[in-house]
Amino acid sequence: MRKKIIAGNWKMNKTPSEAVALINELKPLVANDEVDVVFCVPAISIIPAMEAAKGSNISIGTENMYFEESGAYTGEIAPNMLTDVGVKFVIIGHSERREYFAETDETVNKKVLKAFEHGITPIICCGETLTQREQGVTIDWIRQQIKIAFLNVTAEQAKTAVIAYEPIWAIGTGKTATSDQAEEVCAAIRGCIAEIYDDATAAEIRIQYGGSVNAGNAAELFAKADIDGGLVGGASLKPEFGNIVNYNK
Ligand code: 13P
Repeated sequence: MRKKIIAGNWKMNKTPSEAVALINELKPLVANDEVDVVFCVPAISIIPAMEAAKGSNISIGTENMYFEESGAYTGEIAPNMLTDVGVKFVIIGHSERREYFAETDETVNKKVLKAFEHGITPIICCGETLTQREQGVTIDWIRQQIKIAFLNVTAEQAKTAVIAYEPIWAIGTGKTATSDQAEEVCAAIRGCIAEIYDDATAAEIRIQYGGSVNAGNAAELFAKADIDGGLVGGASLKPEFGNIVNYNK
């Protein structure tokens, strides 16, 4: 039985002091031991967020990482900088990074391999545009993204990965995929993992849905067989996140 994992992606929001205040506010609201709860915060807020989350069920993750160990990469964050302060999760290949910061399936694969090398769990994002959905190529597109992201990743590593299916047209638009649309793609992702590895690996990997998840739609989405939680943007910055995490109560 896969444990649900519900993560907030804070994107470029909240100063470090605002981050501490928000965590203190949300801490009692997100207490639910049946779910893994992760707050992925901007790099500058990782350390104060860790401090604020101490003693709670919240794990602190971040939103990006570079695929080299160190060196002349101005502005980037190395994996051992993250592990040094206890980061366990990193979002990789979010569609905003692909669109605005030139991330490709190849850089996603390099980052995924590097995260595993350092014992950080990658939350690997994939998703189609509205045009691709209308063209009927969604599943082909997602399968390609997954196949490239997992190149040279072992089955043992893949079992521990998290995949976030985030249709780009549903991000920040208030336009959620229906639970059937989300389940169709999440099931196809699990099928793709079974093809690359085996059924046991596919049965263990956790697949989230992301894109306008809110307190009103979380329970229906998370009830689907292949949806193991959510990656939540806007609603993760509000007390509403508590209701999302406690979708099963
Ligand atoms: P919203 O929940 O704001 O639509 O954002 C989704 C997302 O991009 C999470 O990574």
